[in-house]
Amino acid sequence: MLFFGGDYNPEQWPEEVWVEDVALMRQAGVTAVSLGVFAWSQLEPEEGRFEFGWLDRIMDRLHAGGIKVALATPTASPPPWFTLAHPEGLPVTADGVRLTHGSRDTYCVSAPPYRAAARRIAAELAGRYARHPALALWHVHNEYGTDCRCDLTAASFRGWLEKRHGSLDALNEAWTTTFWSQRYSDWAQITPPRATQYLPNPAHVLDFRRFLSDELLGAFVEQRDLLRAANPDVPITTNFVQGGWVSVDHARWAAELDVVAVDHYPAAADDEAEAETAFGGDLARGWAHRDGGEWLLMETAPNLIYTPGRMHAKEPGRLTRHSLNYLARGSRGAMYFQWRQPRGGAELFHSALVPHAGPDSPVFREAIGLGRTLKALTGKVAGPVVADVAVGWDAPSWWALQAGGLPAAEIDYLAGVRQVHRALYRSGFATDFVFPGLDEIGARLRSYRIVVLPFLYLVSDASAAALRDFVAGGGHLVVGHLSGIADPAGRIRLGGYPGAFRDLLGVRVVEWRPLAPGTTIALDDGEQGVRWSERVETAGAATLVRYAGDVLAGAPAITRNRYGSGSAWYVSPGLDDDALRRLLDRVAAEAGVAPVLPGLPPRFEAVRRGELLFLFNHGDVPGTVPLPGPARVVVSGREVSGSLTVPPGGATAIRLE
Ligand code: GAL
Ligand code: ZN
Repeated sequence: MLFFGGDYNPEQWPEEVWVEDVALMRQAGVTAVSLGVFAWSQLEPEEGRFEFGWLDRIMDRLHAGGIKVALATPTASPPPWFTLAHPEGLPVTADGVRLTHGSRDTYCVSAPPYRAAARRIAAELAGRYARHPALALWHVHNEYGTDCRCDLTAASFRGWLEKRHGSLDALNEAWTTTFWSQRYSDWAQITPPRATQYLPNPAHVLDFRRFLSDELLGAFVEQRDLLRAANPDVPITTNFVQGGWVSVDHARWAAELDVVAVDHYPAAADDEAEAETAFGGDLARGWAHRDGGEWLLMETAPNLIYTPGRMHAKEPGRLTRHSLNYLARGSRGAMYFQWRQPRGGAELFHSALVPHAGPDSPVFREAIGLGRTLKALTGKVAGPVVADVAVGWDAPSWWALQAGGLPAAEIDYLAGVRQVHRALYRSGFATDFVFPGLDEIGARLRSYRIVVLPFLYLVSDASAAALRDFVAGGGHLVVGHLSGIADPAGRIRLGGYPGAFRDLLGVRVVEWRPLAPGTTIALDDGEQGVRWSERVETAGAATLVRYAGDVLAGAPAITRNRYGSGSAWYVSPGLDDDALRRLLDRVAAEAGVAPVLPGLPPRFEAVRRGELLFLFNHGDVPGTVPLPGPARVVVSGREVSGSLTVPPGGATAIRLE
């Protein structure tokens, strides 16, 4: 089955509407819904008193309609009674303010009463529904990512720190607490990072985020184990959310999930939305590499794009293109937030398959067409996306580069990674993500010809050694500035940047010269450096491009070092999109890596998954794609040879014969 449906909140509607819901779901070809995500106050109206009648009725009704259920545990939003009964279960901000109910996600994951309440409702649901015939997937919680700085969190943090560092001396050493008289002489002196006078210790903040990731994971695992015990055959997931504020290291979490599920919301109205969709899908597939790269798009907005400050209605065809794009990049279907647009509540204008206007609406009509397409693709979309290129992703490096006191305020980890991915995407290369911080990195690297590391600021000795082996064995490694700078605790690797990769790259960086926004530095190949420049000395590497302006004139800017049977490239300046793309195209040419399908018209995209080739026309004019051989259009069964024309805004899947 391909998942097609979305978050369904029948608890917000009278039961007459449920009848219409199921009829409309059938009309659209919906195969699954996520149920009960925020229904705690309806399932447990008073502490310990449960009301499952309504859930029984809708589960049965959905089952009768042939619709599967991803049943959620509602633990992301404790009811008001929880607040009054267990005030210590509420989160405290860094400023010491204890939050209260009235929104969602208002709980402290380290508070025993919250954990007990979460286990209780999860166990009740497990006991009642684990063998319900509609149940296809457990959806634990929603978008883990909350933060709390209370005393209970402090106690738990200290326990985590003892395990990580072993002793206070080791912690003091790792955190460089000699700086500003921060030396701890008793574990009890350590708190979560809280409001303080000036810059906090970055190592303290970094460890706290790692701790939160593990603490939240503990809460997930606790529920997962309860659900699994009730029926080991039902897979369990939780929906990952991304954002700079999220203290979840998804690469590590993924190992604990049966299915990697991801919520993804592109945030640009123009073609950048398609580039973001590609990025989200590729990153999700990276997290799911243990499952052959298969993951599930649990939420996206069907008919809207939430751009900063404004909702943008998707143009006709865009819902379909985005959905098929996630599918092509490894998703097991396409699920949305949400099924029916609510009448009230905080997100009353958020996107839905059945909008306020009702089913007589562009979005619902497009959903019907999409449902038909997905039905035709069912059983035919399988197999891996094979990529020769991978980009490094490292949550702790992201967190570390959010500290104050960095050499430039504009350093933006996500933007840096996105830019590399976008350049590869625009050139049409299939691109994976790898996670240099994971133990298995050495084995993972062996699948790729090219690995690009933007902003891999923190790196362990073991990861650096794995990257060296990758190059020695014939790989092409491209390292950007601000990579290999510090050890995992955030201490600088001395002797010249990038300490972890100096020998591999054959360079030594002795001075950073970040550029002010809007300024550039000339390079001797005619390109411009942006955002960043630095004084590089070569120590074995060949200089390919030099700085041509400023006090750096004549100094190396882009270098390549032959190492074993591979090459390690160093890109010292920031580059704009086009210059970066030209550089990566050059690396690809040297590495013998080709795009998925050469010769695509402008604004076209090709993605290969298993035996299928997906073609997307994101432009306003038809375009004709040269095909390598005879093929068959999957949905229509039509045979094509030589070439295929895709209409404006269209998407199609073909099987090459
Ligand atoms: C998601 C969240 C949903 C809903 C949605 C709004 O991140 O999981 O519950 O808030 O955003 O678009
Ligand atoms: Zn707390």
